[in-house]
Amino acid sequence: MKTKALMFILVVAAGITFSFTGWAQTAGAQSAAEKRALFMRGAELWPVYCNTCHNARPGPEFSPSEWNMIMMHMRTQANLPAQDARAILEYLKGSR
Ligand code: HEC
Repeated sequence: MKTKALMFILVVAAGITFSFTGWAQTAGAQSAAEKRALFMRGAELWPVYCNTCHNARPGPEFSPSEWNMIMMHMRTQANLPAQDARAILEYLKGSR
């Protein structure tokens, strides 16, 4: 009885550990190639979207954490699809 309970706890603990590592891999840092592709796409989209209402503001003008906040606001202003917003954010944070 005791061993069964112990086995159960071990299996549950292992399951939790595996799902967390899986989650960390998907949510965590992308590969360098993925980041580069996002950056390139952002460089194309930035002048298109961000020039419509005001002059497109260059990346070095704000810090990466400021861009996180600004993009939350501007992606709703510009009605950006999530993937495009991520690309532009990557470009703005990366061009300095
Ligand atoms: C639909 C119009 C519109 C679009 C498109 C737009 N913006 Fe804006 N943006 C505004 C307006 C209006 C303000 C000023 C008032 C405000 O903050 O809402 C502003 C302000 C800003 C500011 C100034 C913040 C500051 O503190 O000086 C930045 C930076 C900015 N936008 C970046 C962007 C970027 C990057 C994009 C492209 C993803 C973008 N905007 C697209 C309307 C727009």
